[in-house]
Amino acid sequence: MGAIETLLEPFFEETSPRRGLPAAAYTDKEFWDAECMSVFTRNWICVGFVHELKVSGDAVPIKIAGHPLLLVRNKEGAIRAFHNVCRHRCLTLVEEPRNVGKLIRCPYHAWAYDLDGNLRASPHFGGVNEHYSKGFDRKQNGLVPVRTHIWNDWIFVNIDGDAEPFEDYASTIKERLNGIEWENLNCIGTLDFGEIACNWKFIMENFIEPYHVQFVHASTTDQPLEDHFTIIDGNCLGSAVDLQEEIGTSGSLGVSSRYLTLYPNFILGRYFPDQMGVYLNIPTGPGTMMQKRALYTTEGQSLSEEAIRGLRKLWWDVHKEDHEMTERLQLGRASQVSAAGGVLSPAWEDSVRAFQDMVARDVTSRKLPKEGIYNDNQ
Ligand code: FES
Ligand SMILES: [Fe+2]
Repeated sequence: MGAIETLLEPFFEETSPRRGLPAAAYTDKEFWDAECMSVFTRNWICVGFVHELKVSGDAVPIKIAGHPLLLVRNKEGAIRAFHNVCRHRCLTLVEEPRNVGKLIRCPYHAWAYDLDGNLRASPHFGGVNEHYSKGFDRKQNGLVPVRTHIWNDWIFVNIDGDAEPFEDYASTIKERLNGIEWENLNCIGTLDFGEIACNWKFIMENFIEPYHVQFVHASTTDQPLEDHFTIIDGNCLGSAVDLQEEIGTSGSLGVSSRYLTLYPNFILGRYFPDQMGVYLNIPTGPGTMMQKRALYTTEGQSLSEEAIRGLRKLWWDVHKEDHEMTERLQLGRASQVSAAGGVLSPAWEDSVRAFQDMVARDVTSRKLPKEGIYNDNQ
């Protein structure tokens, strides 16, 4: 049995209530490395917003779970993703978001690639003014592409190339968003939270359990606990609130909502009738991650500057409340008391357990537990 299997033994025990993942799953380099090689390579992961690559030549580097990647808008306007690594001596090619023009040029020995990754220049590689050498084929030394799928404003990649087609992978979250006319989606702003000092899983878990809402967001929302439920539906885990009485107006938190994720790192909040938020969650290490949130209207409407300012402040405050909790979850993992993982509410955190089961499946390649072990309260 491998070290990770051993670590997860208490997690797999059929206790009542169920335990959460052990502390080491949030703090240890070994577990993080296992996630980088499994969770983040074999699934579809969200790595960027289309709206950040406006014109041909716009390039955004992103390092996700140890993989340096480069997103580029090509001449035809399509978004491409590559490993952000020069094929000569493997330097990272682009360090900051910028427009590279027509060519991605490596600063070390000036190899240059076009926006589709083809190697176009390898100056003096074979000697002075000899740009080729025996057996060296530029065609074999282009940038290595990464499988990409664009869904609305969101860029997904599948690093090992073997995941099921995105349409199938994301079918359940898409079904739950039926009725939205995607062509009317309008991005009205982005919040950049920078680095959050917690493991990426705490942010996901926080989003899919409705248990904390009434306590952590008491000043920003009035959604009563009894109107909430959890969602466990294929790769879509989440929580939701159907208010018996709508107490707020569009753009407040007092409306019926859907908090949906697409395993492993995509988060979408839908706030009826006409608003949406999508989060880019970039894990950067066992105890750190980066987060941005894009704000959208779903019926094409534009809002006044004042309304947008109000929304930005609302969501900034709400997420700061969440981040304080998730950073303290991380701090608590330093204690021996959290070694065995804490306990999960069968009513409100079965979605958290389902998420953790998927992580455990990926790092150990075990099968998921049988359906039906979760509370069916939808
Ligand atoms: S490492 Fe890129 S050109 Fe040499
Ligand atoms: Fe929250």
